[in-house]
Amino acid sequence: MTRIGFAYNQKPEQSGLIGTEATAHAGTVDDGELSRLQEEPPGSGSDEFAEWDSRETIDAVAAALSALGEVIFLEANEDFPELLRDAKPDIVFNIAEGRYGVNREAHVPAICEFHGIPYSGSDPLTLSLCLDKARAKETLSHHGIPTARFAVVRELSEIARASKALQLPLFVKPVHEGSSKGITERNFCRTAAELEAQVAFLLSSYDQPVIVEEYLPGAEFTCAVLGNGRTATVLPIVGMNFASLPEGALPIYGFEAKWIWDRPENPLQMFDCPAHIDPALARAIERVTLDAYRVLGCRDWSRIDVRLDAGGEPNVVEVNPLPGILPDPADNSCFPKAARAAGMSYDELIQSCLRLAATRQRVPLGRQLRKVRTVSKTAPRPRAARSRDSDGPAAGDTVANRLSA
Ligand SMILES: Nc1ncnc2c1ncn2[C@@H]1O[C@H](COP(=O)(O)OP(=O)(O)O)[C@@H](O)[C@H]1O
Ligand SMILES: [Mg+2]
Repeated sequence: MTRIGFAYNQKPEQSGLIGTEATAHAGTVDDGELSRLQEEPPGSGSDEFAEWDSRETIDAVAAALSALGEVIFLEANEDFPELLRDAKPDIVFNIAEGRYGVNREAHVPAICEFHGIPYSGSDPLTLSLCLDKARAKETLSHHGIPTARFAVVRELSEIARASKALQLPLFVKPVHEGSSKGITERNFCRTAAELEAQVAFLLSSYDQPVIVEEYLPGAEFTCAVLGNGRTATVLPIVGMNFASLPEGALPIYGFEAKWIWDRPENPLQMFDCPAHIDPALARAIERVTLDAYRVLGCRDWSRIDVRLDAGGEPNVVEVNPLPGILPDPADNSCFPKAARAAGMSYDELIQSCLRLAATRQRVPLGRQLRKVRTVSKTAPRPRAARSRDSDGPAAGDTVANRLSA
């Protein structure tokens, strides 16, 4: 039987822990409410653990993995290096967002590499690169992949120089965050004075450089990618329906939309999946998505945010090599949503990702290895990105089947 190490960071149980050091053995978050963030003003520390996973997500992933082997829980706390060394799993399924520093998402994969243990998803270089929005955009620009023009501000005195070459309105973000941490309507800056005030706020609140980008005024999409090389597949595109935001809200998918206005008991009709868009636009979005995935070195899965510029061209906003995977459809997590639209269950999504990683690294998977090996030999060969305008996979031709080949 395959021994599957499962690396994750679990959200602390109580809001009282927010702002304190993460507990290594946080308790159970058994209610959807606790897995959401507290309604405190973003930037006050309330979003510190926004990227970590709830007990509900951890249990759902473990349940899916258990069909393919014995699951060994490896919480990515300070004991992780020893836990991993002692457990010596055949492969690690990694969703750990990490603890400290700008390379935090790279730590688990790097420790796996140190021990020579195969793991799922992108390598440390790609994880660190994508967590630095500016360095990731430099790579995209180098390869001619459209992304908004930008500058990085490390201290307030640099603002004039940085913004000189850029055209207002601008959008500012902490350079090393995710899950909309530090991203609110106030980050939209129409004037030099607004820019200075918000950059000052972000520099002092998040203790890291601020990326200043030209604002992309068009529609927004997020694209889930599964696969590697020529078999990388864009799942049905998720379109953002900003009309569902409260009246007068800025059309962005920021902290308020993600964590405050969209609640399980009163969900925003925020998403349109598959997005109802022109097939030519869908193809253009898929093209920049797969190009970004390739040049940033993503593996197995990633979710890529795309927005249209003033000319209607898709631009890459950011790349998430550790995509959010909340299991409850009411939580509106985009990767599982795209998978469902492709005919894949949550379990199939998680299992596909593990299978991709196992295939890449030649790790046999299964509770009864011989049986699983026989099945995978007869599975259909993978194909390239599916057409956007199909109504869904034909019977027996699921994305899960194609990817597991
Ligand atoms: N240059 C931009 N122009 C317009 N909106 C933007 C821009 N950058 C980010 N946004 C908005 O902010 C949201 C969050 O930004 P993003 O870089 O994706 O951060 P996060 O890692 O927190 O998801 C995006 O989904 C988008 O709505
Ligand atoms: Mg994003």
